[in-house]
Amino acid sequence: MRISVLGTGYVGLVTGAALAHLGNQVVCHDIDRERIDLLRAGRLPFYEPHLDEVVQPARRRGNLIFVSGEFALLNEADVIFICVGTPSLPGGKGIDLRFVRAAATQIGEILEPGRRRVVVNKSTVPLGSRCWVETLVKEVLHRRGRRREMELATVSNPEFLREGSAVYDVFFPDRIVIGTEDEWAVETLHELYRPIIERSFTPPASLAAAPSGQFSPVPFLWVSPAGAELIKYAANAFLATKISFINEIANICEVLGADVREVATGLGLDRRIGPEFLAAGVGWGGSCFGKDLNGLMADARAYGYEPALLRAVFDLNYRQRMVVVKKLQNLLKTLRGMVIAVYGLSFKPQTDDLRDAPSLDVIKKLVSLGALVRVFDPVATGAFRRLCPDPEVKVCHDPDELVEGADGLVIVTEWPQVKELDWERVANRMRRKIIVDGRNVLAGGGLEQYGFAYQGVGIPVRPG
Ligand SMILES: NC(=O)c1ccc[n+]([C@@H]2O[C@H](COP(=O)([O-])OP(=O)(O)OC[C@H]3O[C@@H](n4cnc5c(N)ncnc54)[C@H](O)[C@@H]3O)[C@@H](O)[C@H]2O)c1
Repeated sequence: MRISVLGTGYVGLVTGAALAHLGNQVVCHDIDRERIDLLRAGRLPFYEPHLDEVVQPARRRGNLIFVSGEFALLNEADVIFICVGTPSLPGGKGIDLRFVRAAATQIGEILEPGRRRVVVNKSTVPLGSRCWVETLVKEVLHRRGRRREMELATVSNPEFLREGSAVYDVFFPDRIVIGTEDEWAVETLHELYRPIIERSFTPPASLAAAPSGQFSPVPFLWVSPAGAELIKYAANAFLATKISFINEIANICEVLGADVREVATGLGLDRRIGPEFLAAGVGWGGSCFGKDLNGLMADARAYGYEPALLRAVFDLNYRQRMVVVKKLQNLLKTLRGMVIAVYGLSFKPQTDDLRDAPSLDVIKKLVSLGALVRVFDPVATGAFRRLCPDPEVKVCHDPDELVEGADGLVIVTEWPQVKELDWERVANRMRRKIIVDGRNVLAGGGLEQYGFAYQGVGIPVRPG
């Protein structure tokens, strides 16, 4: 099929590249010219494992092209995906839909009659947005005198990929959700996704094989547009709830004297609960959970429902970010003048995305307390320099530079490289041997043998 994708972020670029890999003719549009220039030059605008191996062959074959500034090629498409950002409004007062509005307007301005089209919204949006997008597109078409002849369906098709494993998730999704009333649009999308649903495609060589134990064929769920939109919000709200829940249990473990890792293992073996998303720590971050909870809460409140559980999940998470700072204060007392090393900046491993990353709040708090903060991340230091050019924070090139003369080391992101550090070397370089592990990745790693005072989250501290 001929596909157009609006937005070349994590969702748009991975979706476009995957559909090109499956043999479709894909045009990726973005209003960010710099981003498109990079992509045309064969480079990626962000770090995402395996994405390069899908983008470059398709680009060289000529069935994945990148366009900025002009939208004429939208008219050639059978299916148009909207994959633009939907950030929170300032103060968490709902969702800023201006990028979706602009995308819908561009579509309405360009389309000419002559062929059936499906407009698919993949951006995560408040309830009713599918209807709103359809109305916007049709209003523009009406103004241009094209509405009556146009055969057009609009669909909500939420995306569930995770940054860090986005390519894998798009090729091997747990489910595909389609929200629309138009049967022909469902048939079109079923056809487009058929290789993924039936797992009949050849995956990119670098990607692991299809997951075992997953449903095959992939469940293809046809629901109402509001149902599709709420499935996405509810999924993220549930995942955020699971993390905030285990963090609350971790905090209770600390005061009562149990080990949250034991509790999580015991909980996770219950099949009704499952083991995923039960790692206690400094809490969730990223561009989605906070924004989507905000969006869902704003929707509920606008219709007279106070979402008490979601509010608590949200508040607990932002409070949780400070647990590592409190632990440092307990261990070092006054932090003014102390050199604190922060390992991990991205909101999770395998990405350089810093949106709503817990590290940012931790660093801000440490700086406000007068600590001399140093940071290191295996891939996100460049993104951090662009986002926070604070001269008070020293961005280090390697772990050696990070820990040299430090009074405390805080782990904020669970990069696998953390476990591989040479702890004798680290101990020899630090001024005080203190580690606060905001992800519990070093727990049980025998750090005591190198003389470290170690504290995790929800793990009892052995009397000294
Ligand atoms: N990042 C994720 O893990 C993830 C997962 C699932 C769903 N989502 C949702 O998908 C949507 C996109 O997220 P993302 O992380 O890919 O965003 P992003 O910020 O990485 O990318 C959005 C891109 O859209 C471009 N854009 C904005 N307006 C445009 C327009 N009118 N025409 C063309 N391009 C335009 C921007 O320049 C930017 O490059 C959001 O609603 C998000 O909530 C994100």
